[in-house]
Amino acid sequence: MKFEGSDQYVATPDLMLAVNAAATLQRPLLIKGEPGTGKTMLAEEVARALNMPLLQWHIKSTTKAQQGLYEYDAVSRLRDSQLSGIEGAEKVRNIENYIVKGVLWQAFEADRPVVLLIDEIDKADIEFPNDLLREIDRMEFYVYETRQLIKARHRPLVVITSNNEKELPDAFLRRCFFHYIKFPEAKTMQAIVDVHFPGLKQDLLAAALRTFFEVRGLPGLKKKPSTSELLDWLKLLVAEDIPAETLLLKDDKVSVPPLVGALLKNEQDLTLFEKLVQMQRHNR
Ligand SMILES: Nc1ncnc2c1ncn2[C@@H]1O[C@H](COP(=O)(O)OP(=O)(O)O)[C@@H](O)[C@H]1O
Ligand SMILES: [Mg+2]
Repeated sequence: MKFEGSDQYVATPDLMLAVNAAATLQRPLLIKGEPGTGKTMLAEEVARALNMPLLQWHIKSTTKAQQGLYEYDAVSRLRDSQLSGIEGAEKVRNIENYIVKGVLWQAFEADRPVVLLIDEIDKADIEFPNDLLREIDRMEFYVYETRQLIKARHRPLVVITSNNEKELPDAFLRRCFFHYIKFPEAKTMQAIVDVHFPGLKQDLLAAALRTFFEVRGLPGLKKKPSTSELLDWLKLLVAEDIPAETLLLKDDKVSVPPLVGALLKNEQDLTLFEKLVQMQRHNR
């Protein structure tokens, strides 16, 4: 069982090492990085490469740890008890019929090891990671309503992602293997673009990457464009058949490119970029 990236996903050597280390240690892999650096996709690709099913749990600000284990649907039970006749009473009596299994439970009872993605854990409130410590550590939890102990049949490979919006508790960090996906440098980015657009014209690619990194390098940018934004933009450039020359001024300086709205998503950033281009013109 070794993860080596795939034909659809460019994994740097240190990322591969991290995935395999987490698998060896049997610890959750905690992946941090800017939005759009391929964290969610990593879990999908690991599952695909290792031929394991993928269970995904996308975290929102309102998500509670308990929802990953199970939920007791008291409302349905009450409704059933009011509406059902004698034959329904049997169902209502058995509380098990109203226990809804969460993603962790599904992962624990799967008949083979799965990849369990807990996506964007930093979206939830601060207690969320701590509330999951025991379950992730011991790979078991107790269902009070039915007095059942649920134990994992196989330890899932847990991948946890964070966009770094909140700090995670120390006790939680201690149990994870950590990897930070650095923003790809030009060469890696070129490889990622190649995966998505094989056969892209080299001059267009070079000019687009040049503009992209120039934009990202602007000091004071509110929201730096990420990999996914670059890919969107390239898709548009290709669809509109935009020539490479439009992206650069005469002496190879960056100009305000067409469809820049794919890269910059607010007016302050756009103004900043336009200023840079004007300054370049001035300096010629
Ligand atoms: N290393 C990579 N190899 C191939 N595509 C990538 C890579 N990193 C990012 N992408 C592209 O960027 C998009 C966004 O990635 P995603 O996993 O959603 O980022 P995140 O979860 O970190 O916000 C993906 O759909 C994919 O098309
Ligand atoms: Mg994501």
